[in-house]
Amino acid sequence: MKPKKITRRDWMIRTATGVAAGAVSMPTLLAQQTAPPGSVQQLAVPAGAQQVPGPVEPPTPQDANRDARMEWWHEAQFGMFIHWGLYSQVGRHEWAFENEAFPMTEYEPLAKTFKPRPMAARQWARVARGTGMKYMVMTTKHHEGFCNFDSKLTNYCAMQQGPGRDLVREYVDAARAEGMRVGFYYSLMDWHHPDGANCLTDPAARDRFVEYTHGLIRELMTNYGKIDVLWYDVHWPLDVDGWQSVKMNEMVFGLQPDIIVNNRNGLPGDFSTPEQTIVAATGGRAWETCMTLNDSWGYQRADDNWKSPATVIRNLITCARDGGNYLLNVGPRPDGVVPEDSVHVLEQVGQWMKRNGETVLGTDLCQPRTSNYASFTRKGNTLYMHVHFWPGDYVAISGLQVGVKSAKMHASGETVAFTQDKFRVKLTGLPEEAPDNPVTTIEIECDDVPTQDTLMVRKEKPRDGVGYSG
Ligand code: GLC
Repeated sequence: MKPKKITRRDWMIRTATGVAAGAVSMPTLLAQQTAPPGSVQQLAVPAGAQQVPGPVEPPTPQDANRDARMEWWHEAQFGMFIHWGLYSQVGRHEWAFENEAFPMTEYEPLAKTFKPRPMAARQWARVARGTGMKYMVMTTKHHEGFCNFDSKLTNYCAMQQGPGRDLVREYVDAARAEGMRVGFYYSLMDWHHPDGANCLTDPAARDRFVEYTHGLIRELMTNYGKIDVLWYDVHWPLDVDGWQSVKMNEMVFGLQPDIIVNNRNGLPGDFSTPEQTIVAATGGRAWETCMTLNDSWGYQRADDNWKSPATVIRNLITCARDGGNYLLNVGPRPDGVVPEDSVHVLEQVGQWMKRNGETVLGTDLCQPRTSNYASFTRKGNTLYMHVHFWPGDYVAISGLQVGVKSAKMHASGETVAFTQDKFRVKLTGLPEEAPDNPVTTIEIECDDVPTQDTLMVRKEKPRDGVGYSG
């Protein structure tokens, strides 16, 4: 049978334009993504039965070249988020200013005492590359209002305060030196600017504050060369009209024609931003899950609730399987150093990625998802079975709808024996102990795009009537 390849790009295009895809129905895939594993709904939508409607928004000039602009991003799949600012000195989460109701007189002096070590960002970029990440997104200004960059519009900025230098410039240089794509996080909400809250009710304040905001974004889009991602955050207290978000994006694209923007200035932008949860966007929308490595974005000294390398890898696999990106956060200490515990986790992820990265990054949308101990990714007709909980001896896949041609351990290349009938693929002769750590990847070459149907197994697997006495 002729292999049918559904690339990540095809997926975005086909679901957005409503053209059914070849062997695998995209609506079926979507239905399966949103249903609990093994549930009836998971396979309830017949192939080609209906189309999932795309978001209904007036077209923007950026719609026309979105695929081209986002190609690198869909390939990249794994990025580093960096939350760093005055709050890092407090060491109690980036919301300390508001959630502890710091008086301004106690918080503002942190701008003077913020004295990070030179070129701290070099370590971030090295760690990102070592982890297998392809892009970075740094907080240029968080809700606290302090600009980590050099601004002509405020003296509440790194150049004119404690650091005495442009921390965003250092970040951009460091990221580029390690071959990382460069992203800027920018919070529209501002707890420091005098008009940051009363702009909701005072039109003159709104005019001033919106002009200030557009001005800061203009500086960011003008002074640092090519920027790959603009990551807006929290548009409180204004709406799209209040912020003049359409004009904002027009200015951004005027200065950076190839940039990608997210959806947090109230407009749909180029991608959705599920936070701390992995939920695929529908309607062909691009999406990126952002997630903390412990429970805080900004440095929180006592937060030791670190995700294990196994959890990080599994999350990355889940994002890749469903066509999304994974933006994983680090919160450097006030001196700029990424906490040792974070580095330790990321190093282990990076070691695994060196052996297995190509089975996750640059992969295609993957429909098979049901297993009690493994998750899946796919490239063309190759199915990667990532075994998280190694059962020993053999592993099995239920309801695979294509023929298996061969199987091997991905890291060692060792051939894996298998048997296949209508219901089960059984990979046999496996060692008792997991050959790779923390996740073992088995590469399964199929004769077509692999899909899985466990409901068929439930309905059709012969029932031998054991115990039937009628
Ligand atoms: C939330 C938080 C913010 C964090 C962001 C990351 O919006 O307010 O602190 O920067 O999520 O997605």
